Amino acid sequence: MPLDRDTLWYKDAVIYQVHVRTFHDSNGDGIGDFRGLQSKLDYLQQLGITAIWLMPFFPSPLRDDGYDIADYHSVHSSYGSLEDFENFLGAAHDRGIRVIIELVANHTSDQHPWFQESRSSTDNPRRDWYVWSDTDTLYKETRIIFLDTEKSNWAWDPVSKAFYWHRFFSHQPDLNYDNPAVREQMWQVMNFWLQMGVDGFRLDAVPYLVEREGTNCENLPETHQVLKDLRRRLDENFPGRMLLAEANQWPADLRPYFGNEDEFHMAFHFPLMPRMFMGLKLEDRKPITEILQQTPEIPPSCQWSLFLRNHDELTLEMVTDMERDYMYDSYAASKTMRLNLGIRRRLAPLLSNDRRRIELMNGMLMSLPGTPIIYYGDEIGMGDNINLGDRNGVRTPMQWNGETNAGFSTAPSERLYAPLIQDPVYGFPAVNVLRQKTAEHSLFNWMQRIIAVRKSSAIFGRGSIEFLYPANHRILAYVRKLGNDAILIVNNLSSTAQAVELDLKRYKGNILIEMFGKNMFPRVGDLPYLLTMGPYQFFWFRLRRV
Ligand code: NOJ
Ligand code: CA
Repeated sequence: MPLDRDTLWYKDAVIYQVHVRTFHDSNGDGIGDFRGLQSKLDYLQQLGITAIWLMPFFPSPLRDDGYDIADYHSVHSSYGSLEDFENFLGAAHDRGIRVIIELVANHTSDQHPWFQESRSSTDNPRRDWYVWSDTDTLYKETRIIFLDTEKSNWAWDPVSKAFYWHRFFSHQPDLNYDNPAVREQMWQVMNFWLQMGVDGFRLDAVPYLVEREGTNCENLPETHQVLKDLRRRLDENFPGRMLLAEANQWPADLRPYFGNEDEFHMAFHFPLMPRMFMGLKLEDRKPITEILQQTPEIPPSCQWSLFLRNHDELTLEMVTDMERDYMYDSYAASKTMRLNLGIRRRLAPLLSNDRRRIELMNGMLMSLPGTPIIYYGDEIGMGDNINLGDRNGVRTPMQWNGETNAGFSTAPSERLYAPLIQDPVYGFPAVNVLRQKTAEHSLFNWMQRIIAVRKSSAIFGRGSIEFLYPANHRILAYVRKLGNDAILIVNNLSSTAQAVELDLKRYKGNILIEMFGKNMFPRVGDLPYLLTMGPYQFFWFRLRRV
């Protein structure tokens, strides 16, 4: 299957997020690698995804699972060689699957030779590649992100006897983007991977590139300028490639990352994600409609990227204090489930493994405006292991079958990079790909189905949205439109059956065709359109004038 040549491919994409080390181990050392991932491309193709987002796979001391990079131009030896990566990329492309990789531009590992040089003496030519200071009192208004581990954004370097700036772990010094050599170097890194054929980058931690006294050092105009320069060079040299912003910010602060179609193509919608969980728990559409009303329009070629879970904690940075308390009480009763300002759990356990809620949340993920991202393992309802530290509990090996090591690796179990999930409900004997492929009503088969239905209409990726506000506030209903086509989506956020009357006046005369079964529902007439819905049920209807 050839790659879709449309330069707006990311609008129609269904993205699968995976870390190479978690997926499949081809050489029996207990660590997933590129050959292993390549051998599982058929699986991903069957699922129906159209792009893969890979977490960092570069040489690294792995103190932040690879977000601490020690060499930008190579592959971590545990995961294979550059040639293995190229083979994987080619094989993905042969299947029509695009590959998005990470550009961790804000910081490096302290083991990176640039930092080693920079710290070696104050007159080293690379001294100015990082942010050094004689005091730790600058930029006081800047928040600390990894609250559970870091006390300050400054760390003391005993080698060069000065402080260096870091927004994340202290072993991740921030690069100095006021230095043109650093900006040029990051473009060279991009260029290297673009030449090889990668289709896009997720740019990690973009709000923090530049620091200025008297500000909170986030979203500064200077930072946007750095990003615009990278975009310009991307467009000049590699049209059709895509940049995705990881900017965990409020909608109003997110908007500038799209610029005037001259910065990012896509950005994660961070504030929406926790509000989908909140709406579900409250059985009320308000958190969702409210945040989407506050979401500014974005330029035509731009796109939101939507997600339910990822490799980090379910972040509660973009909610109010009250909302955060509510989320903790509802979804992380035990303190061990909390990390920094978030909840370190996977989708299925968050939703008490309730298949109806898992389907409803995926239904919204796939039908709200944006491109959906599925976190590996969530398509089979994998569980988490809160006994593992930091965010490792949601990064355990993929569960392929009920055999030794879940079919992930032939290594002795003690050598796996992380233990498999073993508990009776989510353990690999119960939850695995093989079993779900053969069970007609499995979550995997259902996910395959919903992805196919989504892909049957460009409206989901490209259409506008209009909310309906029926009196029953447990119902979240919206119409997605593109040209003359329209799809009506109705979600019951409640755990009980509900009736709803929808005002569909302007669609009078249309019939409704339910998109999963292709059955006709009654024609829209003069009266409000009445639907009855089971607990957590949802409908996708094509509106058709006949
Ligand atoms: C955001 C990434 O998602 C997270 O996993 C990482 O720890 C930080 N950036 C620092 O790179
Ligand atoms: Ca391996």
